[in-house]
Amino acid sequence: MRKALIAGNWKMNKTLAEARELVAGIREQIVKINNIGDVDVLICPPFQLLMPMAKAIDGSCIMLGAQNAHHEPFGAFTGEVSVSMLKDAGCTHVIIGHSERRRLFGEDNALLAKKVRAVLHGDLTAIYCVGETLEEREANQTDRVIRAQVAAVIARDISSDRLVIAYEPVWAIGTGRTATTEQAQAVHAAIRSQLAEIYDLAISKKIRVLYGGSMKPDNAGQLLQQPDVDGGLIGGACLSASDFSAIISLAASVSK
Ligand code: PGA
Repeated sequence: MRKALIAGNWKMNKTLAEARELVAGIREQIVKINNIGDVDVLICPPFQLLMPMAKAIDGSCIMLGAQNAHHEPFGAFTGEVSVSMLKDAGCTHVIIGHSERRRLFGEDNALLAKKVRAVLHGDLTAIYCVGETLEEREANQTDRVIRAQVAAVIARDISSDRLVIAYEPVWAIGTGRTATTEQAQAVHAAIRSQLAEIYDLAISKKIRVLYGGSMKPDNAGQLLQQPDVDGGLIGGACLSASDFSAIISLAASVSK
């Protein structure tokens, strides 16, 4: 019912030559995947690569996304990029509220609410990230933290059509430590029931909730089989054409 989405968050990686090689490798490998039509594939390169990567994915099923956007449409915001600029560059998706943006760049829920609205208002898909730190998990605060991150940003008047949520436990990002399938499924189910409270049950069943945090070919299959895990937001493993394609292939083979 929900089409899987496998999204690669390149973070601050790849020169133009490296990016071209990576995309060529992904293209070569994903054409061999049976049922590739059952998976949405997205790459989110850094800003300077968006336009050349729009060209590099041309004619393939790969979609293009950005890792951040400013919430204002234009103006004196040195170093920032607006949603309409991203659209111009060929983006259909924007990641908002990645834990690195929250932690290293001070982005809080109030700012992220503006960003998600700006992305949706610009007719792009927002991938809104939530996740608890290790301290929060150990203090049994996971549910409270995730609930607050969702509640502060997602409201009934926000269009659910182009909304994706990514659950990324901060302690699992880039650490090689993944949430267990039970941990992931429990949080995903809690997010979906909160979405049912905000919207309604039918809408909550249509919104995709991705898992992110050290997802790799050797753990993706089990995670993607969980009933409320609708895809992945991949960091480290998306920088390798074979690993990223292997995860896409696993998503294409999961039947729920
Ligand atoms: P990781 O990153 O796969 O390297 O843990 C995921 C992310 O930060 O989106």
